[in-house]
Amino acid sequence: MKINVHFTNHHFDDMYFTGKTSVAIDVLRATTVIVTALVNGAREVIPVNSVDFAMKISGNTFGGQTILGGERNTKMIEGFTLGNSPLEYTPEIVAGKSVVLYTTNGSKAIVKAKFSEIQYICCFNNLPAIANHLCLLNKDVEINCAGTNGNFNMEDAICAGRLINEMMNFDNTIEISDEGKASLNLNKSFGKNILKMLRNSEHGKLLIENGFADDLKICSGYGISNLIPYYVSGSIKKYDAEIVNNINNETKISEDAEEK
Ligand code: MLT
Repeated sequence: MKINVHFTNHHFDDMYFTGKTSVAIDVLRATTVIVTALVNGAREVIPVNSVDFAMKISGNTFGGQTILGGERNTKMIEGFTLGNSPLEYTPEIVAGKSVVLYTTNGSKAIVKAKFSEIQYICCFNNLPAIANHLCLLNKDVEINCAGTNGNFNMEDAICAGRLINEMMNFDNTIEISDEGKASLNLNKSFGKNILKMLRNSEHGKLLIENGFADDLKICSGYGISNLIPYYVSGSIKKYDAEIVNNINNETKISEDAEEK
């Protein structure tokens, strides 16, 4: 099994992930919000890469069961019901709903990897569960860090490093790319105290300045959920082994048909 890490995804096009197994990471805060929403009973999360598209697919499209959430410059967007704080995604608000999510980097990174065979959503909250699952899956993995506006960010790189480190505990034969090795070292140097690391990161500081200090506590929670969210056909749902097997079988059937 090979693991590759991308500290940002702005330098390649949407076709790059075609047919691959990928993992999206945006610790502050999109992937933490997605895990929280699904843990609290959201039916699905639909990540989008523009506010216009978010508006278009919300409303009555899904029988009035959609909620618009997300942020611009960390703040709630006019016309949206929720911002991008995991604390807002309570069971009372999200249970049974389709959450349409637009965020500056995270939702766009997920949409960018839309052609992945399967794409998992990871943050510190569900990292051990994702590591375990990927090792059982035993396929090459592309870790897609959302980064910040096309640039590297510390928290996503360290989360990637921690994910690889956990996977190496299951399987010490894993092959790791140079970016993967760099993220492992970053995790070793700065990842021991996750909350402290988040508070010292550039985006963490901005969130504190904008009144979201408590979000960092939620985002630093390590392994507090076993949820494995996966994105396929435009929406993120809780992993269900049976559904995923069907998807894999369908892919296999269409590949076989192409070969004939
Ligand atoms: C993003 O997608 O850039 C983030 O989730 C921003 C934020 O902290 O809300």
